[in-house]
Amino acid sequence: MLAELSPAVIAEVKFAATLLGSKQRICILTGAGISAESGIPTFRDKQTGLWGNYGVEDLATPDGFARDPKLVWSWYQWRRQLVADKSPNPAHYALAQWQYHAQSSKQQITLITQNVDNLHEQAGSTVTHLHGQLSRNRCSSCETPYQDQSSAAYDTQNVLNFDDTLITCSHCDGYIRPDIVWFGEALPVQAWETAETAAAGCEVFISIGTSSLVYPAAGLAQLAKQNGAHIIEINPDPTPNSIVDITLSQKAGIVLPLLIEDITAL
Ligand code: APR
Repeated sequence: MLAELSPAVIAEVKFAATLLGSKQRICILTGAGISAESGIPTFRDKQTGLWGNYGVEDLATPDGFARDPKLVWSWYQWRRQLVADKSPNPAHYALAQWQYHAQSSKQQITLITQNVDNLHEQAGSTVTHLHGQLSRNRCSSCETPYQDQSSAAYDTQNVLNFDDTLITCSHCDGYIRPDIVWFGEALPVQAWETAETAAAGCEVFISIGTSSLVYPAAGLAQLAKQNGAHIIEINPDPTPNSIVDITLSQKAGIVLPLLIEDITAL
């Protein structure tokens, strides 16, 4: 793994580890990039990004769902199919290991994600979801959670298949929709409160695998900075985030295991 890193990045990892090892309150925000090495496409990659190939307004807005619920439901069932056989990668596991280690050290690590794929939980992390979860559904009209979470069944080849037939609510007959925050919708109140409190109170804020383009999540780093936190960014590509103190320009699955190994060895 070290062979993939330039001496400059290795030096930055050491520097970041020393800083993180000396602080107690850490807030981490992850985005689609942390799951890229698990084989899940990000949203804004030029070639493979979901929003390069599909229309945001049609698929991720309440208006799009009202116009064509079948199209939206089919797309989310396709995305469920896409993540069904994906597993956490070394980046997810490294963060889970750090959280586990923090139980016996004095560190308080709050992990917040914009991702809906549940790979942080699968790796063993405790995580706050800002944008909902792909595995959950609710009624688009009365908001009642829909219990049969995935509408999936194993076929004769033992492959999990996601039926794209629209489902209606047993209480009000409204269409069942994924429990995901779409553009133009408010974030879950409790999750946002947790995120704001952690960002405002942290000593170091780490932004991992996010383009930092979508608000309000992208504003958490600014909130942390205003309150005196150091900002670390882990991303192989540049972002518009101009308040970063330490940039680790590499894939999260390469950098995070090294960083966490260094921190937990301190
Ligand atoms: N490691 C770290 N970062 C990576 C990796 C990797 N292996 N691969 C890609 N990235 C980076 C990209 O350079 C990019 O900056 O991940 C980022 C992914 O950006 P987006 O596709 O914009 O995803 P994200 O920031 O999570 O999007 C935010 O937008 O569409 C909405 O609700 C959706 O939660 C999503 C939100």
